[in-house]
Amino acid sequence: MNLWTITDISTMQATATELRQEGNTIGFVPTMGFLHEGHLSLLDIARQKCDVLVMSIFVNPTQFGENEDLEEYPRDFDRDARLARERGVDILFHPAAKEMYTDNFATYVVTDYLSEKLCGASRPTHFRGVATVVSKLFNIVRPDIAVFGQKDAQQATIIKRMVQDLNFPVEIVTGPIVREQDGLALSSRNTYLSSEERQQATSLYRGLQQAKKLVESGEVNSNIIVDEIRSILEAEPDIREDYIAIVDPGTLDPVREVNQGVLIAIAAFVGTTRLIDNIMIDIRWNEHS
Ligand code: PAJ
Repeated sequence: MNLWTITDISTMQATATELRQEGNTIGFVPTMGFLHEGHLSLLDIARQKCDVLVMSIFVNPTQFGENEDLEEYPRDFDRDARLARERGVDILFHPAAKEMYTDNFATYVVTDYLSEKLCGASRPTHFRGVATVVSKLFNIVRPDIAVFGQKDAQQATIIKRMVQDLNFPVEIVTGPIVREQDGLALSSRNTYLSSEERQQATSLYRGLQQAKKLVESGEVNSNIIVDEIRSILEAEPDIREDYIAIVDPGTLDPVREVNQGVLIAIAAFVGTTRLIDNIMIDIRWNEHS
């Protein structure tokens, strides 16, 4: 199958229905484009698990706040299409904003308490936009499995919750964080960084590594671990913390003592660019990712 680009919802839906009737399983990787190895690693995971691989590219307006970077968000459709083809994508779903959101659009999906935590505190409508567009995409692409990156840990938690709560017939798989050689998590937004900011941005990863070391050496006090990460971020002149949190990965509730599997998550402004990173620590098996 050659790469086929579909821009309208009815064609995508009819195609998905036909593919399923013919007995194919559909794998799906939703993205906002400007692809990097992080996105491509998810395509590799999905490719192994399905007959037909669909990727969407849609810079979703409802997940951007008023003063956020919707207009500036980087876009390069031709390059994305080439990379998608090389990584085995069969169908690229690339709708226009007015195709996805008609004039009288009024229905949103809200994952209650999960959406308000961590990134939700500074981006109050973000996860409503994510849950809404992912619901729409699931209804349009009708996937059997969908793959999300652990890079956006809160997003992955919210999507899993939503799929369970609303009985979407789709299996959610998460892929590990892909990083640069020096540890910086790949992100489309890294292109905003100046070379100085780019160097300072590694402090998020360094902070998480230090946290992991502390836990491995027996530290259980979350405040002490958070303070250690904070001191690493504060050593960089252009970094401003949004949050550093140690939470239960399912509920995103803060954990005071690290005696269970935890998610350690950071959001920080590097200059004007907001970056996120995280690490999962599984205490029982002492395995880290
Ligand atoms: P986007 O930021 O384009 O990311 C698409 C997918 O790639 C997400 O599942 C994200 O977690 C994953 N990803 C990004 N960077 C990664 C990295 N370094 N390693 C592994 N995976 C990585 O997330 C979105 O788009 C949107 O919110 C979307 C789900 C498409 C809804 O609009």
